[in-house]
Amino acid sequence: MTNSYDKDEMLALLDWFQAMGVDAAVGEMPHDWLARGDEAPGAGFSWPEREKAAPTARPVAPPQSARPGVSRSAPGLDPGRPRAATPLGASEAETGARRIARAVTSLEGLEAALQAFDGCGLKSTATKLCFYRGAPQADVMFIGEAPGRDEDLAGKPFVGRAGQLLDKMLAAIGLSEADVHITNIVYWRPPGNRTPTPQEALSCRPFLERQIELVAPKMLVAVGGAAAKEVLGAAEGIMRLRGKWREVQVGERKIPAIATLHPAYLLRTPAAKQLAWMDLLQIKSKL
Ligand code: URA
Repeated sequence: MTNSYDKDEMLALLDWFQAMGVDAAVGEMPHDWLARGDEAPGAGFSWPEREKAAPTARPVAPPQSARPGVSRSAPGLDPGRPRAATPLGASEAETGARRIARAVTSLEGLEAALQAFDGCGLKSTATKLCFYRGAPQADVMFIGEAPGRDEDLAGKPFVGRAGQLLDKMLAAIGLSEADVHITNIVYWRPPGNRTPTPQEALSCRPFLERQIELVAPKMLVAVGGAAAKEVLGAAEGIMRLRGKWREVQVGERKIPAIATLHPAYLLRTPAAKQLAWMDLLQIKSKL
């Protein structure tokens, strides 16, 4: 950017940025993303050698299909059921991520592995990794959609307005941050707060599955439609999915899981709070 723009042009440019979903400045100088040509985000990344990456880990999931572009991973977190074809890049990213995630034996290790992981394109536009908030081990694990602007700046999930409402929802059933583990289906903010693509969710999923194994919750709560689809492996909308217990297979465990409405939706649609309250009561009674 040069200073040949006058004030009106700069204001018009800022308006355009805002319309395109840019709502935070993350650096002193702009990145020219077009300068890297057709190279995909993370293209320069190479997976650690197998011996280095996975010395002793026990498998989280059954072996993946060798067919290019087709993942044998299930919809949702059950790795045993077939899922729709995904582009080869995403499938490769998932396989590499699974190898790395399996080798990790602690949440600290998982965070370090995520910091080093370049297989999810969201990382290249995000400011910070958003790993989790709350207790390292908890009976209830809340899984949301994706970090937003506040989370991207803080490096923690659900710290903005929606997160504050989530905290109030938890308090309503006697839970605090110290009682729960809160994360998302992707660990980096999608530009402009768009919904993560299936490929982005797929590349993060091995880490999420490992995170669930390490946290060892008694139940999972998917927060909002995108998380519900990913966690429960379902195609229906959130209004159909919410409020019903299911079981999801994660590694060797079957874990009860329920979906509820996203607090960001509740902020826009206060009348839906009564539905969310019914879901919260289900969670409370299961505890
Ligand atoms: N919405 C989410 O789904 N996750 C967050 O971390 C913040 C807002």
